[in-house]
Amino acid sequence: MGDLLGVAVLGAGHMGADHIRRLDQVVSGARVAAVADPDRARAEAAVAGLDHVTVHTDPVAALDAPGVAAVLIASPAPAHEEALLAAFARRLPVLCEKPMVPDSAGALRIMEAELGAGRRLAQIGFMRRYDAEYRRLKALLDGGRLGRPLMLHCTHRNVSSPADFTSAMLINSSVSHEIDAARWLLGQELTAVTVLRPGPSAGAPGGLLDPQFALFETERGALVDVEVFVNCGFGYQVRCEAVCEAGSARIGDEHTMVVTTRGGARQEVAQDYLVRFAAAYDREVQAWVDATRRGEVTGPGAWDGYAASAVAEAGVRALETGQRVAVDLAPRPALYAGR
Ligand SMILES: NC(=O)c1ccc[n+]([C@@H]2O[C@H](COP(=O)([O-])OP(=O)(O)OC[C@H]3O[C@@H](n4cnc5c(N)ncnc54)[C@H](O)[C@@H]3O)[C@@H](O)[C@H]2O)c1
Repeated sequence: MGDLLGVAVLGAGHMGADHIRRLDQVVSGARVAAVADPDRARAEAAVAGLDHVTVHTDPVAALDAPGVAAVLIASPAPAHEEALLAAFARRLPVLCEKPMVPDSAGALRIMEAELGAGRRLAQIGFMRRYDAEYRRLKALLDGGRLGRPLMLHCTHRNVSSPADFTSAMLINSSVSHEIDAARWLLGQELTAVTVLRPGPSAGAPGGLLDPQFALFETERGALVDVEVFVNCGFGYQVRCEAVCEAGSARIGDEHTMVVTTRGGARQEVAQDYLVRFAAAYDREVQAWVDATRRGEVTGPGAWDGYAASAVAEAGVRALETGQRVAVDLAPRPALYAGR
């Protein structure tokens, strides 16, 4: 057990409990050493049956628990900054669920603290970079066979949203995935955003502006549009089509079982991200554990978390004002060059 990476998991909700199961049953080279959740019963339930795990209600206490050498943050976004800063102060490597923090000012503080530590410590949970289909699309675009990418058409639909979901969160929580994926696929920063919206769906809880349509501009003249619809009621669907000078490529069409019976065929549709992106989460956490044990950070980092926050913040202003809003990115520190 001594040579396994001991991980403190902060937050034992949907993602935290799934990551605990993953660290215990799927990933090699790591073990859960501590868990923290203000809801002690939830934390205890998430680690039931696991040995040598301490349970805490205070996240900072979990960082100081015996055997902890790394941290996985799966608490709600407003709690991430405090947890990241506490981890950096202890020089603990971190995998932090997206969004890194809710706002760009907080993201700048995270980068400043990591720069103060003198090395990269944080990986941000943009797991689409580990999804097999996204990786194929990235390789195709990078290979140049389709020529220069001109547009990405993206769809992001959830069956329903959590009770506390706000109109801004369609952009800064849901679309943060497309923001990161577009930056990564195109190798470009997003420079401006406009958000339009139809009249809300009857399925949207009162007052929620759902769906929305976001249009991003990039630094080398590409366009990225995203339909985000978080109470569509019928399935979890994430698609992306790249339209290039010499062809197009689309990912995210359902690849599940098709059942044909008399008079018709029925194709299953995933109902949530834990199903659609199961393999991507597995690959993400395994890659993080492997890199951490080598003393490296190889995945999306604090700069990517910052860029996503800054673009999302502009997106929320665009939603609120109805205007096109330019993204104002700080200069990229050398620590994050080439990533
Ligand atoms: N990568 C993805 O695809 C993906 C999908 C869903 C959610 N997320 C992200 O994961 C994070 C958690 O989301 P969730 O859906 O699991 O939420 P959740 O509400 O199901 O769980 C959050 C848990 O954190 C606990 N908590 C609250 N404050 C805490 C603190 N200070 N320290 C430790 N725990 C605390 C809560 O009691 C709760 O049990 C969010 O950042 C969310 O955006 C990522």
